[in-house]
Amino acid sequence: MNVNGEHDQRMESVQAAMAARSAVRSWAEGLELIELVRATHRAGWLKQLRGETTAAELAAAHGTSVKQVSEVLAVLSSANVVRPGDGSSSGDSFRLSPEFDALVAGAAGVEMTVVLDAVELARSQVARAVRPTDQEPGAGIEGAQALVLARDWGLRPTPAARQLIGMLYEALPEFRARLESGGPLLDVGTGVGGALITGLTLFEGLRAVGVESVPEVAAECRRRTEAAGVADRVDIRTTDARALSDESAFSACFWAQPFFSEDVRADTLTVIFRALRPDGLLLVQELFPPGSTQDEPTLRAGLDRLFFTQRHIPFGLSAEELAAEGHAAGFRDARVTDSALGKLVLMRKPDC
Ligand SMILES: C[S@@+](CC[C@H](N)C(=O)[O-])C[C@H]1O[C@@H](n2cnc3c(N)ncnc32)[C@H](O)[C@@H]1O
Repeated sequence: MNVNGEHDQRMESVQAAMAARSAVRSWAEGLELIELVRATHRAGWLKQLRGETTAAELAAAHGTSVKQVSEVLAVLSSANVVRPGDGSSSGDSFRLSPEFDALVAGAAGVEMTVVLDAVELARSQVARAVRPTDQEPGAGIEGAQALVLARDWGLRPTPAARQLIGMLYEALPEFRARLESGGPLLDVGTGVGGALITGLTLFEGLRAVGVESVPEVAAECRRRTEAAGVADRVDIRTTDARALSDESAFSACFWAQPFFSEDVRADTLTVIFRALRPDGLLLVQELFPPGSTQDEPTLRAGLDRLFFTQRHIPFGLSAEELAAEGHAAGFRDARVTDSALGKLVLMRKPDC
């Protein structure tokens, strides 16, 4: 290669490295933004920004300079966390955008601290994907980390959540009729009881059993049943679902299948089948629709897939695959329904 050729090659590799550097720097924007949002939330700024507030008011309330507050607000504004206010206060005012206002308010349990904790959990876990398999410290998520995950998925039984879960049952009149006539409902993989507790508040005569293997998560769920005033109609059992010994006791079951690992799925379906009465209904939800996970992989879907597959949880099973799993356990008449919450699969335990 001549001198010019070597020079061109060096220039190309410098440009390539600069391009990669700018990609890394653009990823870092999200990291820094999360830390800024976490800090402003902890310090009470976001709460104050639920109402229209000026930089001067924030600075006075939190002992910071107006200049620094203005710079923070400019960054939060670029990220649509805050927006300029309508100017009713003196000076340049800001308030949370409607989306972040709802998150800071904790609409239906979708809360800022819960979201930030879940993001931190995912961040702390992702590097484990690179460890040699024989150094894997245990694939499951336990204790406080399981609680972070369950809170992130668990709605609170607010009117908005009732509307959402109500829409789900609207799409399933047969399942809904079982709940309306009292169940009993078996809820497997209860988490902090988002679906279960909301259902209990929707159907006043409903009785239920919730099954959750992580003690910290089950304890939080029990606290939430007390807070919602439904504790006398539900039994939250702290156990691995595979240990259930109920026979022909339930008319309906909801299985939070997306969180169950490969090695426990068939046995879990076997105990659900046994626990349902003949003609009992099993409902499962297709959580990560295949279109966004396999056919057109995105960065988000790829990272989610990593998180789940590290825990040996099959990621993004399609409604058809879920129906086949149920069929192998003895369920029949699988029917797939499209709903506002994605595809739902309803299956029946045969009469005889
Ligand atoms: C994230 S929650 C699902 C959301 C929940 N259904 C709700 O509506 O809030 C799933 C739960 O299943 C639990 N789980 C996973 N495998 C289990 C098993 N074998 N037996 C019992 N619970 C299990 C996990 O601990 C987790 O808390």
